[in-house]
Amino acid sequence: MPSSIARANRIAVIGAGNVGVTFAYSLMHSGLASEIVLLDLDKKRTEGEVMDLNHAVPYLRTVAVWCGDYEDVAGAAVTVISAGVGQKPGESRLELLKRNVDVFQKIVPKVVENNPDGIILIATNPVDILTYVTQKISGLPKERVIGSGTILDTARFRYLLGQHFRVDAQSVHAYIIGEHGDSEVPVWSTADIGSLKVEEFAKGYQISFDDKVKEEIFTKTRDAAYHIIERKGATYYAVAVGLVRIVEAVLRDQKTVLSVSSLIEPEYECVSDVSLSLPSVISRAGIEKVLRLKLCEEEASALCHSADVLKETLGQLEV
Ligand SMILES: NC(=O)c1ccc[n+]([C@@H]2O[C@H](COP(=O)([O-])OP(=O)(O)OC[C@H]3O[C@@H](n4cnc5c(N)ncnc54)[C@H](O)[C@@H]3O)[C@@H](O)[C@H]2O)c1
Repeated sequence: MPSSIARANRIAVIGAGNVGVTFAYSLMHSGLASEIVLLDLDKKRTEGEVMDLNHAVPYLRTVAVWCGDYEDVAGAAVTVISAGVGQKPGESRLELLKRNVDVFQKIVPKVVENNPDGIILIATNPVDILTYVTQKISGLPKERVIGSGTILDTARFRYLLGQHFRVDAQSVHAYIIGEHGDSEVPVWSTADIGSLKVEEFAKGYQISFDDKVKEEIFTKTRDAAYHIIERKGATYYAVAVGLVRIVEAVLRDQKTVLSVSSLIEPEYECVSDVSLSLPSVISRAGIEKVLRLKLCEEEASALCHSADVLKETLGQLEV
């Protein structure tokens, strides 16, 4: 572990599985962090990951990577939690969730005790529920508890729209909001390409864009994880890069608008006291603003439904 007291760009990762290690690897490429500490229950495997990661340092920008303990979370600007347990045969989603809440009940107090001033960024699923739970357990201001939320779904949506319209996905401005999951909501009413509404773009360049196409793009976005997991067992590259993008906005105080999950209060539409994703301004302070979108009626009611789905689950947890 480095002895340096200057820990401005220390990032901690709790849960060094597929997501945690891929995030660390992507972060190393970004050159954003000076120190990356990885923690996992499986210390031996984490040591192996750290050795492998460190052997890339001579060809990347200098960064200290080590396998640490909770004391090493001290001073981290962001602590990413990607720790979780997998589904046991015959286990319901709720039972699995309760076990992951137990995992968070062990992790979060130790993070806060060692690092009361840092930001916690949650990736573990169900990410909106665990973002809410983390905020409650930690007692941190809601600005400093961020869930990766729909950052991944928004990336998938933009990628698919870019493919359909044959433009760079980076020139597509469109968001998925609400739950990171089955009830998520595509915001078609504000989606644009280079400031042209997608409908206008389609009309102007004779590209098919009817309800069937929209449904197809959204379904592929929403169900992407199922298709990937069916083929390779897990998803981790895109979420890892999404996490790096959030960390970049924090470390560089960028005030970037990203769709992430946070505790929504005061009430927005019919959403309150629940964590879900809306485009939010992210800076060194965490979530500076949650944008109040002008949704059409259909989108607003879909967002309310998404909030209700999440609230129902929270009700079963009694948090
Ligand atoms: N938010 C997203 O968009 C998104 C995308 C992909 C995956 N995920 C989620 O991320 C989580 C991790 O996925 P993965 O593929 O990396 O799983 P994984 O099984 O590869 O890694 C999980 C790690 O957590 C560790 N762990 C469990 N309990 C712990 C504890 N108490 N303390 C420290 N470490 C602990 C395990 O040892 C394991 O190494 C899952 O919940 C998955 O659903 C989220």
